[in-house]
Amino acid sequence: MITKIFNQKQIKKAAKLIKKGELVAFPTETVYGLGANAFDSNAVKKIFIAKGRPYDNPLIVHIAKKEQLNEIAKISKKQKKNLNKLIQKFWPGPLTIVLKKKNVIPKEVSAGLDSVAIRMPNHRIALNLIKYSKVPIAAPSANISGKPSGTCFQDVYDDFNGKIAGIIKSNECKIGLESTVIDLTTKNPLLLRPGGTDFESLKKLLPNLKIASEKSNKPKSPGMKYKHYSPDAKVILFEKTAKSKIKDFSNKLKKENKSFILINPKKIKNFPRKMFRIFRNCDRKKIEYVLIPAVEERGIYLAVMNRLRKSSSKIIK
Ligand code: TXA
Ligand code: MG
Repeated sequence: MITKIFNQKQIKKAAKLIKKGELVAFPTETVYGLGANAFDSNAVKKIFIAKGRPYDNPLIVHIAKKEQLNEIAKISKKQKKNLNKLIQKFWPGPLTIVLKKKNVIPKEVSAGLDSVAIRMPNHRIALNLIKYSKVPIAAPSANISGKPSGTCFQDVYDDFNGKIAGIIKSNECKIGLESTVIDLTTKNPLLLRPGGTDFESLKKLLPNLKIASEKSNKPKSPGMKYKHYSPDAKVILFEKTAKSKIKDFSNKLKKENKSFILINPKKIKNFPRKMFRIFRNCDRKKIEYVLIPAVEERGIYLAVMNRLRKSSSKIIK
């Protein structure tokens, strides 16, 4: 398949492909998404094939107008209050909200669950693509399953050239990490995945917000159980208690003649935004090990640590 590359002025052409049931990768403020018409189960199946994504991991549906919410989700009176608070403060933006789904959303999107995750991205190209397509767009992060999310055109091109109908070329994503996912279908609102919207700001708005446990056998968010975001290089994460062990580990690698780098998130400006790109650049340079000391889990760094733990081959405590 020839992958068409669109510039920012050709969004209508890209939208035509979405309408035809094809896949188009597009930028958002968090990471690039791999989009398909959310109402078209055949189009959505193509996402799972192109990414090699497990079929039990549901997709986020992207909308451009608040009115589209009622088209795809059932909202109870109790949820409405919390939902309105969240939307008013955080949409458009890096916050995904899980609600009960309506039947128009095919089971492929929700991976058989009775809920649907919804987000309004804060990005002109993404919003216009949805508007011109005239349908909500189901989109996971644009990366081969298990790899670091695509945060710039080159990343997406490397993973999907020849496999999808189109890519909209734009600048590097501003946030560089995925959206925060909140479940409103539970008794208390649950944070399923930390991301671009701070837990602290959400907690101010929803005081009974809880963080979902990742240890249960049946995670609330199916994506939680898979290894994720990993470069080919082995990521070794040193928890706060193990910082002194970095030297021992690097000496061992030196003796074994392995290539490695030490990345200290605290010393890199805008590390959250650059993290996935740094991982991908390590692979381009064929680096074998990436050693990273942990950082305090505050603000966006809660999401950073979540991604680091999931991407690591080894956590040293
Ligand atoms: O920033 C983002 O969220 C990006 C951009 C493209 O919007 N998208 C993204 O999608 O990160 P993905 O597929 O990589 O991650 C979606 C997460 C997964 O952890 C998935 O399990 C969870 O959302 N999810 C989706 N639908 C769900 C549902 N109905 N219930 C619980 N979790 C759900
Ligand atoms: Mg992803």
